[in-house]
Amino acid sequence: LAPQDLTGETVLVTAGPTREELDPMRFLSNHSSGKMGYAIARAAADRGARVRLVAGPTALSTPRGVELRQVVSAREMHAAVMDLASDCSIVVKAAAVADYRPACRQDQKIKKGGESTLSLELQRNPDILAELGQLQGERFLVGFAAETEQLLENARRKLQDKNLDLIVANDLTAEGAGFAGDTNVVRLIYRNGDVEDLPQMSKDQLAHSLLDRIRSRLHGKEEA
Ligand code: C5P
Repeated sequence: LAPQDLTGETVLVTAGPTREELDPMRFLSNHSSGKMGYAIARAAADRGARVRLVAGPTALSTPRGVELRQVVSAREMHAAVMDLASDCSIVVKAAAVADYRPACRQDQKIKKGGESTLSLELQRNPDILAELGQLQGERFLVGFAAETEQLLENARRKLQDKNLDLIVANDLTAEGAGFAGDTNVVRLIYRNGDVEDLPQMSKDQLAHSLLDRIRSRLHGKEEA
């Protein structure tokens, strides 16, 4: 049995990709498997937290003891997170939210025309995490930054822009890291500027390592 060191905490985790529909058959999405977020939800529940998981479409089964809210689009994820976040002490946003959606979804299947190119107009989605960062509250906010270049600079900027306590940066081009696999290699960047590199480990081990750090810094935040 895991130590019950998150008893009394309510943790909101988001996981998986979002899908942005073009028409009844097609959507824009990404390669997120949801494994990292599900591992965090499972680990937090095993450690005694109340866990709410807001997940885009994945092939994973719901961890025991976790309350699942399934969503499809970024806008649905936004509504679910805003609905559930108010009484959470920790929010971990592991979802790969689509930054843009088609500006208008067609009711009928889009037909091929005679032209060899087709342009899509895209509309910016709400940044869920940035919005949470702007709300007042004691919540400990954790974001993920999946990058293919300038990992530290980009992650630091996201931490500041979104007003986060911790950002988990992973280099999508590194071996053993990223979306589909069962392992990850991450660098943690804290609000005070501390940087910590974690070695390659399974997503389940990483989930526990993250929760260890969140738990020790959470109480620092409450006392600050
Ligand atoms: O997309 P970006 O690299 O800015 O994502 C960093 C963090 O922000 C992730 O934790 C992601 O879940 C979150 N995010 C969000 N809403 C968006 C885009 C990203 O909550 N529209």
